[in-house]
Amino acid sequence: MTQDFNKTLINEPVSDETLEKSGDKVLDQELRPNNFEEYIGQEQIKNNLKILLTAAKERNHPPEHLLFYGPPGLGKTTMAHLIAKETGSQIKVTSGPVIERVGDLASVLTNLSPGDILFIDEIHRLNKTVEEVLYPAMESGQIDIIIGKGPSARTIQLDLPPFTLISATTRVAMISSPLRSRFSGGVFRLEFYTEKEIEKIISRSAKILNMNIDEGAMAEISKRSRSTPRTANYLLKRCRDYAQVLKKQLTKDVVEEALSLLSIDRRGLTAMDRSILSTIVEKYNGGPVGLGTIAASLSEDEATIEEFSEPYLIQLGFIERTPRGRVVTPQGYAHLGLDYPEEKQIKFA
Ligand code: ADE
Repeated sequence: MTQDFNKTLINEPVSDETLEKSGDKVLDQELRPNNFEEYIGQEQIKNNLKILLTAAKERNHPPEHLLFYGPPGLGKTTMAHLIAKETGSQIKVTSGPVIERVGDLASVLTNLSPGDILFIDEIHRLNKTVEEVLYPAMESGQIDIIIGKGPSARTIQLDLPPFTLISATTRVAMISSPLRSRFSGGVFRLEFYTEKEIEKIISRSAKILNMNIDEGAMAEISKRSRSTPRTANYLLKRCRDYAQVLKKQLTKDVVEEALSLLSIDRRGLTAMDRSILSTIVEKYNGGPVGLGTIAASLSEDEATIEEFSEPYLIQLGFIERTPRGRVVTPQGYAHLGLDYPEEKQIKFA
C-alpha cells in the first residue's frame, strides 16, 4: 500500500511543457510567493479564501473542498500551496492521469493524516470509475472498497480522516456536474493578470534573482507575458541569459532583441499563436472553422491549442468562438498586418 501510495504522489506537478524543458524548476520554486500578502493579483479569490480559511480555523475544521480552474500558469497550484501554509497543513500532491485505478485513489486517501490537503492537478483527466469513488470520499469522508471477486465479493466501508481536496483544471467544461457540485468550498476561476500586476511580479522576481534591470525593460517583458505570471518569469530568465551571454545591460531594447530571438512578438504571441491566426485567415477565409480542422492543418494537438493558445487569443480579442467555429476578428487581422476583408464588414445603409 505504502509503495503504491508513493508512486501515485508526485513532488512537483508542472504541466507546462516550456518549464519542463527549460529545467528551471528550482528557480520556479524560488519565485513562488510564500504567503497571500506576497501573492500579487486574483484579489477577489484571495479575499474569499481568507474568509473561508479563517472560518474553518475558528470552527477547528478542515476547509471545504475547492476547485481552481483557468488557463495554465495563472497560479492554481501556487494557491493550493499557500492554503496549505496558511492552515499549517501537510499537502500531498498528485494528478488526474497518475491515478489510473480505483486502488490508486484508495491508497492515496487512506494514507492521508487528519487535516491534510490532497491536491489533484488536471482533475479533468481522472477516469470515470475513479471519479465515482471520489464522490462519497468528498461528501461523507468514506470510501467503499470491494474485497474479493465473484459471489464472495464483499463491500466494506472505510472512514477517512478529515481532509480537504483541492483540485485544479485547465478544462472546467470536462468536469462532470456531480463532481463539480461536490466542491462545497467553492469553484474559482483564475483571471488573466493586468499589465501592472505582471510588472509587479517581474519586479519581485528580479529582486529575488538579484538582477540589474530597468523599468522600461520590465514593462516590455510584461507586455509580452500573455498576462500570465509563469510566462513572465520564464521570459525574465531568458532575457537574463541573453544579457549575460552578450554582456549587455538589460534595457528595453535588449529585451526586444532577446524576445524576438524567441519569436515572441509585441503582444506576447508565439510562433504557434500566429500560425493559428494566419491559418484561419489564409486557408479558411478568416473562419468560422472548427478547432479540429485548425489542429489538423497545423499538425498540432487540439487540446494544446484549446488550453494554451486560444484563451489568450480570445482575451486579446483576436479570435472569437462562435457556434459554427473560430473566427478571426478585425483586430486579429490588424495584428497580422492585414486589412479586414470588405465583404466581412457589416454594412449599414
Ligand atoms: N510568482 C508567480 N506568480 C505570482 C503571483 N501571483 N504573485 C507573486 N509572485 C508570483
